[in-house]
Amino acid sequence: MRLDDVVRKYDAAAKHYDRFMDLVFGALLDLERHRARVVELLGELDGRTVLDVGCGTGRNFPLLVERVGEHGRVIGLDCSNGMLGEARRLVERRGWRNVELVLDDAVSLGRIREPVDAVLSVWCYGTVYDLDAALDRAIDVLRPNGTISIMTFGRAGPERGALRWLYPFYRFAVRSLGMDPGGDFDNAALEAKWQRGRRVLRSRLGGLHEERYLNGAGLIISGRKPLERAGVVWTAAPARSAAVLDDGPDGSFEEGAAVP
Ligand SMILES: C[S@@+](CC[C@H](N)C(=O)[O-])C[C@H]1O[C@@H](n2cnc3c(N)ncnc32)[C@H](O)[C@@H]1O
Repeated sequence: MRLDDVVRKYDAAAKHYDRFMDLVFGALLDLERHRARVVELLGELDGRTVLDVGCGTGRNFPLLVERVGEHGRVIGLDCSNGMLGEARRLVERRGWRNVELVLDDAVSLGRIREPVDAVLSVWCYGTVYDLDAALDRAIDVLRPNGTISIMTFGRAGPERGALRWLYPFYRFAVRSLGMDPGGDFDNAALEAKWQRGRRVLRSRLGGLHEERYLNGAGLIISGRKPLERAGVVWTAAPARSAAVLDDGPDGSFEEGAAVP
């Protein structure tokens, strides 16, 4: 989906999103429980900074806030103001003081100005308009030895089991809410997309690990960014996307700055 389509659709869906997820991803498909696994794959988080890419209404925050502890930080990033508005209400309600919300595009991550210790993304990269670039940027902003963990769909639906029969209802619900990810219901397109995605991850991460859920339809991938070789510096000059996002300071790491 194009960025402006994503923003429009998620802005419109934001008010109903949590109810939809509780009902369809929670009660019907029983997928919510996998959040704990994808967070666990990030490894030790106490006192660390975690970036939640495409955080939506903040459904990963309870797990992340608990894992980073009072000295850690959670950065929730999303391109939809509507979704971030819901996330903000959650943060206020729970009184979390170490959760920061950032309106930004996952493909540029221009507002992430310091390296983070871990990147999490749950059911976001499936709708991102340029997956390869988004994965590249997520790895750019990751501190060496930092971890990344992604939950997505690798196939359009389960091929066996009872959920196979429930899945059409999920599609119907997604379409009714206006969140139709289009090509993501096409197996060939999805597989090709994640083959490319894996190539990006493989070329820049170590210890790549894959798991499946939802009878093979769901895909969890995690890995760790290698330690920098001595003397190697990195630069990150994110190209701001042709964004519909508010203008803001162009966030880029200092040119040539050595990673501490
Ligand atoms: C299905 S929701 C998942 C939200 C949340 N991660 C969860 O687990 O409930 C997908 C989210 O990704 C966001 N998103 C999609 N493309 C994005 C992009 N290019 N940049 C930032 N956020 C994006 C949408 O706005 C939406 O909030």
